[in-house]
Amino acid sequence: MSTLHVTQFHAGTGAGTLVLLHGFPVDSRMWAATASLVDASWQVLAVDLPGLGGSADYLPEPASMDASAAAVLDAIEPYVSGEGLLVLAGLSMGGYVVQAALRSNSELLDGVIFLDTRANADSPEAAANRLKIADESLQLGTSALVSAMASSTLSEANAHSRPELVSFMSELITSQRGSGVAWSQQAMASRPDSFDTLRQTTVPALVIVGVDDQVSPVDVMQDMNQALTESSLVVIADAGHMSPVEQPAAVAEAINEYLGSLHA
Ligand code: MLT
Repeated sequence: MSTLHVTQFHAGTGAGTLVLLHGFPVDSRMWAATASLVDASWQVLAVDLPGLGGSADYLPEPASMDASAAAVLDAIEPYVSGEGLLVLAGLSMGGYVVQAALRSNSELLDGVIFLDTRANADSPEAAANRLKIADESLQLGTSALVSAMASSTLSEANAHSRPELVSFMSELITSQRGSGVAWSQQAMASRPDSFDTLRQTTVPALVIVGVDDQVSPVDVMQDMNQALTESSLVVIADAGHMSPVEQPAAVAEAINEYLGSLHA
């Protein structure tokens, strides 16, 4: 039985449910500004992924994106009526969870949104680096390596000119436990390549990327968009890897247009 923490940003009026999945190493608070701008006819939920935010105590073994996806689908079940549409949206690590959900339960999904993420597996070097960060996090808590991400996940311009965003990201990162950071890194290190899943799915998709994303750059997201049968790509100006934090209005506009197209 999943114990993931769910935030209901708004209840909607029956159009469907949009589930927002956060990136690493933060939690669902990263979605607050964007969620408030999503079409009010949709129920908007955000789930804290295993080990992070309000789900800090939930650390299923072995760590995997498949375990995350199963726990998310379990956690949202009480909120989802059988009738409305169900759309999962994930940023970066959250996008890996959406890919896992497409592998295991695509029949449940009416739409998927990928933000600032990628579909390839880690190289052996990248996976080894994740396991190193996991060990450090277990020993030292939210390590210096992770804390540096407060600015490196924003566009360079925003990291310099919008100190409130750097503070917001720092607060989100430093409030996570080392155990959850480690679990997330172990889970991401073991994730498979998902390009075949993307090529095979018929679930309509939206792909969103910040134009200055250095972690999942535009060309990486173009590859995802091309692999998907039914998909469109929206590039967000003045944003890096944390596009919903940096430009919530532009991201919400893209999401609303996509959700509207699912009604049609
Ligand atoms: C994230 O923002 O979730 C991370 O950049 C994902 C990753 O480390 O691959």
